[in-house]
Parts: sequence; C-alpha cells; structure tokens
Amino acid sequence: MVNLFGGVYQNQTILLIGNTGFKGSWMAYWLSKMGAKVIGYSHKTLTSPCHFDLLGKEFYHEYIFGDINDYKVIEKVVKSNNIDLVFHLAAQSLVRYSYSNPLETFTTNVIGTANVIEASKQNSNIKGIVVVSSDKCYENFEDDRPYNELDRMGGYDPYSASKGCTELVANSYRSSFFNKKDFGTKHNFILASARAGNVIGGGDWSLDRLIPDVVKNASQQQSTEIRNPAATRPWQHVLEPISGYLLLGQNILQKNSSVSEGWNFGPANNETLSVKEVLGVATKIWTEISYHTPEQLNAPHEAKLLRLDISKATKELDWKPVWNTLTAIEKTIEWYKNFYTNKVLSTESDLITYVNQATEKNCNWTK
Ligand SMILES: NC(=O)c1ccc[n+]([C@@H]2O[C@H](COP(=O)([O-])OP(=O)(O)OC[C@H]3O[C@@H](n4cnc5c(N)ncnc54)[C@H](O)[C@@H]3O)[C@@H](O)[C@H]2O)c1
Repeated sequence: MVNLFGGVYQNQTILLIGNTGFKGSWMAYWLSKMGAKVIGYSHKTLTSPCHFDLLGKEFYHEYIFGDINDYKVIEKVVKSNNIDLVFHLAAQSLVRYSYSNPLETFTTNVIGTANVIEASKQNSNIKGIVVVSSDKCYENFEDDRPYNELDRMGGYDPYSASKGCTELVANSYRSSFFNKKDFGTKHNFILASARAGNVIGGGDWSLDRLIPDVVKNASQQQSTEIRNPAATRPWQHVLEPISGYLLLGQNILQKNSSVSEGWNFGPANNETLSVKEVLGVATKIWTEISYHTPEQLNAPHEAKLLRLDISKATKELDWKPVWNTLTAIEKTIEWYKNFYTNKVLSTESDLITYVNQATEKNCNWTK
C-alpha cells in the first residue's frame, strides 16, 4: 500500500487527533499500512468494545492520551515531535448527547479545534492540517437539495451548530494566517476542512448511532427501538471520507495550496436511503437483527434530510466514491456479524478489498 496517494505517506510523521474513535481508528491503521509514522492523540474515554483496542497498538509510532481542550498539553505534543501533517478528527461527535451536554460539545468542537490549529501553527515543520467537521455544519433547510461548499454554515442542535463553528474557526485561521495568496511568501501552511455525511462501517460502538445500536442489540438477541425510520441520509462507508481526507493530506504534503478550502465527501448525489431501507438490507444479511418503531412524542429535533453535493471534490480533486450505499451497508453488517459470531476482525480484509476495487475503478489516489 506504500504507493497509494503518490507514495507521500511513507516515513512521514502524522499526528492523528481522535485516533481512538471510529474514523480515527480506521485511518490510523490505513496510514500505518502506507508506511507513515502515526502519532495518535485522543481522550482516554473509550467505547466498549473499542476498535482502537481491537486493532492493537503495535503499528503506532506513539499514542498519547490527552484533551484537546488543554492547550498547553496539545502545544507540547505538537512542538516536541517532528510532525509533517496533522489530521484533526477529535470531537464530541453525537447529536443527542449534545442536547444534554451543550457546553462540552461547544468547548471540544470549537475551542478544541482552535487549540489544535493554533498549536499546529507553532511548529514550522508542519505543512498543514485537515480539519474534519460534518455535513451538519450547513444550515439545513430540509429542502431536498444537495448542499455545496458555498452554502451557509448553521446548525439547529448544539452538535450541528458546533460543527458550523468548527468550520468558521478553520476559515478564520485560513483567512487571517494561512491565506492562499500569501502561500510560499508569508507562510507555508495549508488548512483544508472536510465535511462528510453519515458514515458507517465496522468498529463503531458509539452511543445513539443507528448501526452500532442495532448490531449491539442483535448480538444480545434484542430488538432496537428506531426513532426516525423515515429519516433519509447519505450513507457511506468509513473508508470513503477517509480516502478524501488522505487525498487532501497528499495535496498538502505536495504543497498544493489550492486545497486550502472546505470539501464535501459523500456518496453520489442520487444515493440516499431511509433508515428503514438500511435496516431492510441489514436484516437480510444478519437475521438476528430486529427493530421496532414506537411513537416518540418528546424526541428532540433531528434533521430529516441532508444531502451533500460532491461535485467540487469530483472535479477539482478527481475524487470519487468506490462503494455504493448498498455495498457500504453490506460490508458494515458483515463486519459486525463476523465480529460477534466468528470473533473475526474484518478491518484489514475490508481495507484490501476497498483498495483493490478503487484500483479497478481507476481512482486517482491508486495510481
Ligand atoms: N461518524 C459519523 O457518522 C460522522 C459524520 C460526520 C462527521 N463526523 C465527524 O468525524 C470526526 C470523527 O468522527 P468519529 O465518528 O470517529 O467520532 P468518535 O466519537 O468515534 O471519535 C471521536 C474521537 O475524538 C476524541 N475526543 C473527543 N473529545 C476529545 C477531547 N476533548 N480531547 C481529545 N480527544 C477527544 C475521542 O477520544 C475519539 O478519539 C468527528 O469530528 C465527527 O464529528 C462523523
């Protein structure tokens, strides 16, 4: 895998913030397979089970438990290592949790992001940073149109608003300190931010997410209460946005300052499925899965429809999805079925299959 993404990751020191989380654990693993020296930095709270633990820690150059809200600590980590590139994926990432813990959500996702960018700015060896926000950063009018990078930031619930703010912080740093027009003269730093939709895949055990809830209950022969069966989402496999983040990272390491902007990564535009349709596919693959949909009178507001327009990434980065939504669901449910029924971890085989199929599809990062 060392030749993927132009071979840029081999021997590069990559600081991956949020490495113990769902996306971070997959990304750390993939980066290590490409020969990167991965330094992980994350909060100590882990899910149970935990993909980061299951994968083992041997492939890490180093991993550190710490809080991004503690500027002094994050600054020390950034300054005392010869880091080439930073991926910032750490966040309070749950919508429903954000209703009961708004201050923690805003602190981590907004101030924590500012801490990470500010600290990265202090190390002149760092070529840039990819800040991960969310499709929820956009003001969602529920108007059945895909949102593009020029759409307004917004957010109804604290999580979504915090992600809009994450993007505003990133954009402020971009304008004030890492302005594209000054690249190569006043600074050498590239700041890309990435927005992706509902991500699925094995190894996620976060609370209040559809697939983790459903598979955990299935493993205990329990039915899952489904809040919004009609909610439509642009489901994609976790390897899809990660290939986008890695492509941004490749451009940063190659000093292509044109990527110093916001980018959407999602499935092709016609690909949205309702929660009910997702569960229909899932139950065919793993018959232990069952669910029910009671009336919820006092459920907090959750956005009903959100689609991303990915034409900018397609045209300007030559990025494209590899697996369609159906394959993403199949791979995900098979991963959990293998884990719960055969005690087998399919992370490596999923990654190899994904890379092989990306190669067959001529994805530019495989050439
Ligand atoms: N999973 C999705 O469907 C999805 C969709 C859109 C956007 N995102 C975004 O992608 C990123 C990664 O998501 P995920 O699903 O892997 O989330 P996750 O909750 O599984 O992982 C979050 C990571 O952040 C770390 N973290 C949280 N608070 C921290 C703090 N104060 N200090 C240090 N580390 C802290 C956790 O330890 C963990 O490593 C997040 O920014 C999330 O908002 C996720």
